[in-house]
Amino acid sequence: MPLKKNANIILIGPMGAGKTTVGKQLAMRLGKTFCDVDQELEKRTGVPVNLIFDIEKEAGFRLRETAMLTELLQRENCIIATGGGVVVTDENRQLLAQTPHTVVYLKTAVKHQLKRLKRDKQRPLLQGAGRRERLMKLAKERNPLYESVADLSFASGRNSAYGMAQKIADYL
Ligand code: S3P
Repeated sequence: MPLKKNANIILIGPMGAGKTTVGKQLAMRLGKTFCDVDQELEKRTGVPVNLIFDIEKEAGFRLRETAMLTELLQRENCIIATGGGVVVTDENRQLLAQTPHTVVYLKTAVKHQLKRLKRDKQRPLLQGAGRRERLMKLAKERNPLYESVADLSFASGRNSAYGMAQKIADYL
């Protein structure tokens, strides 16, 4: 699929899909700039995402996420990694569905998410016990939403970030 010269690629998918690691490698391969909605939010606010969740609750975080996504979509020639919950609000889904840029869904099974997130202690939606059940519930709710806004999807499976970036770059 020929990609327009300054096109952005927006990576969506659940926590532990590898959006950030794949995004960085894809940016290198395609000569684009990498940016990440959560990282930009942390830079702007000076606090980690989990603290934003603590103080402003998920609703406050989602408002900030929409504003940041809107801003990043105005840039050119970027790979934009989003947070796993970017598809839960109507506003964000509209932004993603209407953008002229390419939205790529990194499809991931819960067993692979669990492996990749094994050492993670930060993610606010994964605090406490029952990770597998929580991830399964989120997948059930959100997978159709990712599908609804994606232009392309790639199953990450057991592929490394390197392999995924190669697969996506070859296709594009
Ligand atoms: C979230 C995923 C996180 C982060 C926040 C909420 C979610 O991003 O945006 O903790 O709702 O799934 P990653 O997908 O990069 O973990």
